[in-house]
Amino acid sequence: MKLLAIETSCDETAVAILEGMGDETSARFRIRGNALLSQIEIHREFGGVFPAVAKREHAKNLVPLLEAALAEAELLKEDTQSFSDEVRNQVSALLEREPELDEAFFASLREMEKPDIDCICVTAGPGLAPALWVGVNFAKALSLVWDVPIVAVNHMEGHILSALAQSDAEELRIEGLQLPILALLISGGHTELVLMKEWLSYELIGQTKDDAVGEAFDKVARMMGLPYPGGPEISKLAEQDREDFSTMPFSLPRPMMNDATCDFSFSGLKTAVLYLIKEHGELSEIEKDQLSREFEDAVTDVLWAKTSKALEETGASTLVLGGGVSANTHIRRVFMEKVAQQHPQVALRIPANELTTDNAVMIGLAGYFHALKKEFADPARFEANGNLSLA
Ligand code: KG4
Ligand code: ZN
Repeated sequence: MKLLAIETSCDETAVAILEGMGDETSARFRIRGNALLSQIEIHREFGGVFPAVAKREHAKNLVPLLEAALAEAELLKEDTQSFSDEVRNQVSALLEREPELDEAFFASLREMEKPDIDCICVTAGPGLAPALWVGVNFAKALSLVWDVPIVAVNHMEGHILSALAQSDAEELRIEGLQLPILALLISGGHTELVLMKEWLSYELIGQTKDDAVGEAFDKVARMMGLPYPGGPEISKLAEQDREDFSTMPFSLPRPMMNDATCDFSFSGLKTAVLYLIKEHGELSEIEKDQLSREFEDAVTDVLWAKTSKALEETGASTLVLGGGVSANTHIRRVFMEKVAQQHPQVALRIPANELTTDNAVMIGLAGYFHALKKEFADPARFEANGNLSLA
């Protein structure tokens, strides 16, 4: 099955083309085309993601990325197409709020042969609603013009499946999975533990009561005068301090670490950093490294404590780390060590580095399994949903 996947939930615009074979007992994927544009540099100016700007950038980038992904997959063939007034009007109504995209859409599709695609997978949520809508409407327009079905994909399921996929030089493989699977999803908008007891069916085990982990990284980085996104910046400084092996002068709380639930809270930790900086005054370079390390340690301790508790309570056979924060070197290292020591029977799956942050390949992976089950969305009805949840 050939899939065209589209992701626009936050600050990455991405289009990928995948070829999928098999079912969940043994599935294989070839990535035929993968085009991605990150808006990080643009949002850095604002110190965070600005929804209206994200939306505008997605609208500008989708057509060129579609062409790039199709070309890489050798599916971009020149041809002259004509569209009936009815199709034109329907598409224009869909893209009414993105006139620039409407124009680029027809300029491009008029000159290309309908590509050999069986299904369009698009992120329907969660994420920034204005950003999601651009991708959803674009997918609907393509579906209309090419008469290809759509799968509405949950972005978090994409993060889970990209962590379950193992890659070698040629392909991604999803096979030999032992259920139940516990997933710790940590990103800019999410911090949750979800359990997949049966294939693609989820139960929420725990979640943050306030800030998401990525959000805490970004806010603390901002307090320390570091650029957006703060996660990788803090990670860099913390790693520096681990190498230097300095004596730690700072001590931060580990909120909710020992309570009875599998829930999290990170806003108190963030506030503790704020007060610490206020009291301490300007931080030297080495103190920034030290504070980064202590913050990263506090976050990691809490994440591990809750995950370990959830592993015990659920008896999960597989543990998955997913979401942008799972790119963090220290979190990965600690989870690998602790799983091996404390839960040796559990298989740990961590996404390949290039699949940790938002991308369209993961949307294609998740979409594929729903397409196999013919779980297609009704283009006339389905909507982007910024708060879409897994369970
Ligand atoms: O999944 P993602 O790309 O977008 C969302 O769906 O939110 O996650 C982005 C988040 C940001 O908060 C960013 O600071 C964080 O992931 N992040 C990291 C690292 N790389 C990205 N946090 C900690 N350490 C990292 N290395
Ligand atoms: Zn994400």
